[in-house]
Amino acid sequence: MKALVLYYSRTGTTEKLARRISKQFNADLVKMNQQNDQYVLKTVDLSDYDLVFVGFPMMFRGMPDYVMHYLSSCDFRGVTVVPFATFAIAGLDWVDRVLSEVCHGANVELSYNHGVLKRDDWYKWLYEVNRRYYTD
Ligand SMILES: Cc1cc2nc3c(=O)[nH]c(=O)nc-3n(C[C@H](O)[C@H](O)[C@H](O)COP(=O)(O)O)c2cc1C
Repeated sequence: MKALVLYYSRTGTTEKLARRISKQFNADLVKMNQQNDQYVLKTVDLSDYDLVFVGFPMMFRGMPDYVMHYLSSCDFRGVTVVPFATFAIAGLDWVDRVLSEVCHGANVELSYNHGVLKRDDWYKWLYEVNRRYYTD
């Protein structure tokens, strides 16, 4: 199982979580870097990966435009996407659905939501990811 953690972060919260996930699953780590010129967007090649953890902070009640632009420029065929999202207050029940639309060709499941006041159970999520992808 070759895994990648692909994330965007403005103030470091999502980055911290991304590093934690990368360490946990021995996964490569790539940050979606915002560039000044949107026409020279250079995305990561996903063809080597089976599993991609995709992380972003919620902004203005949704996914940041840049993240949407980046993800929709990638080829996710044959890849399983496990989203992780950070936010302040509001819960995220739309993450899997939106990522299924944006990540063309991906199978999206098992998202992890990490809010300030409310977050999914980390160990339960780890158990599920391990059970589903890391046991033969
Ligand atoms: C411009 C902006 C808009 C935000 N909008 C929301 C929002 O609509 N709902 C919410 O719960 N949190 C919102 N937040 C809080 C961030 O989602 C939260 O702080 C997140 O963990 C930041 O991640 P980062 O440190 O990786 O950038 C917003 C933060 C910023 C800077």
